[in-house]
Amino acid sequence: MYRVFGRSFSSFAIPSIKQLFAKSKTKETVTIKGWVKSLRKMKGITFLDISDGSTDIKLQVVANKSLQLENLTTGSSVTVVGSMDRNPKGQLEVTADDIDISGKCILEEGYPFAPRKTYTPEYVRQYLHLRSRTNKFASMLRIRDGVTQAIHAHLHDEGYINIHTPILTSNDCEGAGEVFNIQPESQNIQRAMARENVPLTESYFNGKVFLTVSGQLHLEAMAHGLSKVYTLGPVFRAENSRSRLHLAEFYMLELETAFVDKLEDLMSCIEKLIQNVTILVLHKYQTDFKQAQIGDLDFAWTQKQFPVITHDYALEVLKQNGRNLNDDCNFTKEDEIFLVKHCGNVPTFVINWPKDQKPFYMKECKTEKGKVAALDLLAPNVGEIVGGSLREDDYYLLQEKLPTEKLQWYLELRKFGGVPTAGFGLGFERYLQLLLGITNIKDTIPFPRWPHNCSL
Ligand code: 4AD
Ligand code: MG
Repeated sequence: MYRVFGRSFSSFAIPSIKQLFAKSKTKETVTIKGWVKSLRKMKGITFLDISDGSTDIKLQVVANKSLQLENLTTGSSVTVVGSMDRNPKGQLEVTADDIDISGKCILEEGYPFAPRKTYTPEYVRQYLHLRSRTNKFASMLRIRDGVTQAIHAHLHDEGYINIHTPILTSNDCEGAGEVFNIQPESQNIQRAMARENVPLTESYFNGKVFLTVSGQLHLEAMAHGLSKVYTLGPVFRAENSRSRLHLAEFYMLELETAFVDKLEDLMSCIEKLIQNVTILVLHKYQTDFKQAQIGDLDFAWTQKQFPVITHDYALEVLKQNGRNLNDDCNFTKEDEIFLVKHCGNVPTFVINWPKDQKPFYMKECKTEKGKVAALDLLAPNVGEIVGGSLREDDYYLLQEKLPTEKLQWYLELRKFGGVPTAGFGLGFERYLQLLLGITNIKDTIPFPRWPHNCSL
């Protein structure tokens, strides 16, 4: 028997506080659903600041004694019905006719946030499941959403097509061995898939499968048909790092463009994307920026070309300034930040990297032997935020460098209508660190994962 329910979307139709502020019609009866941020009880009258998360601006509600709010505490969720008007300061506020407590907030049971108090990020991080209740983190999440929307808008304007690259993959794109292995947990599936002499990690997919470290190779395949493609999704790296700049799960924006054979063109594309997105969100989220941003940040770099230095020049600068490089001449995070300062403390491209420091897919420089046409973009306080390159499009050269037979399909792209392509990956959380001056990357993502930490 089917039961047919009458359709009611009344709860969905209630405007958010942001929408109410935008309409700003007064003398109207409104319904607001949200959380009590703060509460001041005066003689005969209670003032409540309500937030539903849609904006950083709180809506003030004035409640008469007759509404009996003795048990109401901050942190509780409420439904308010009342009339909207302007107070003597000209701000919109609601005089409540009725306040219904949806969920009490039992402060004595350990609610960690008191009204109007600020807490250190380390303190707030202990309560990952409650972080969206703090003003700062809620602002960061709205800006994070704004950046996502701005990236999609910018790239669609530029003619790019969004591709959902897979999370499960048999390749280790970067070749650094930082992959997480996957296998089925269910005993039933394990038994059903079991084959003689085949380890559990290889039985389900007939070979090892990992969580992706980068969608690049799949994106390259799609670029050989759609020309301009991108993906913005989670990637996973099993690094033994608990640094302020590393996560085991992070988001990466990856772009791949066909018919590009100059590093200059790739750099222009990256610069334009980062500048446009930054200008857009700075403008659209001004009040959220005041909440979420740490320190006074200078965004003059949104108006100027980013400096470009070669890897050789970078090495010279570091040596001349007495910085000891490690044996394989890899830059440390401190080296990266030093180089950025040296170039005016603005995002800086480092190009033409030693071949042995970069993955197999990068194209060799025509002019410099032993170098690949690769770039890193280094940012103030953060260091590397982008890694990219021209891709090796010569079938025979790539064949020599192919790390595994499993990538024959990738080689084949160069056989059937092959084209030069170029692309890059932008670390989404590292970009947010740059944008907001956030020291620790764990404060830019709702549920950070790092070694020994994946409890919720
Ligand atoms: O330089 P990476 O490893 O480049 C790639 O994965 C390329 N396949 C991208 C491409 O060309 N399509 O990573 C790109 C960026 C880095 O510059 C850094 O900003 C960020 O990803 N990143 C991390 N962010 C947070 N936690 C980590 N553990 C990160 N590792 C890299
Ligand atoms: Mg890199």
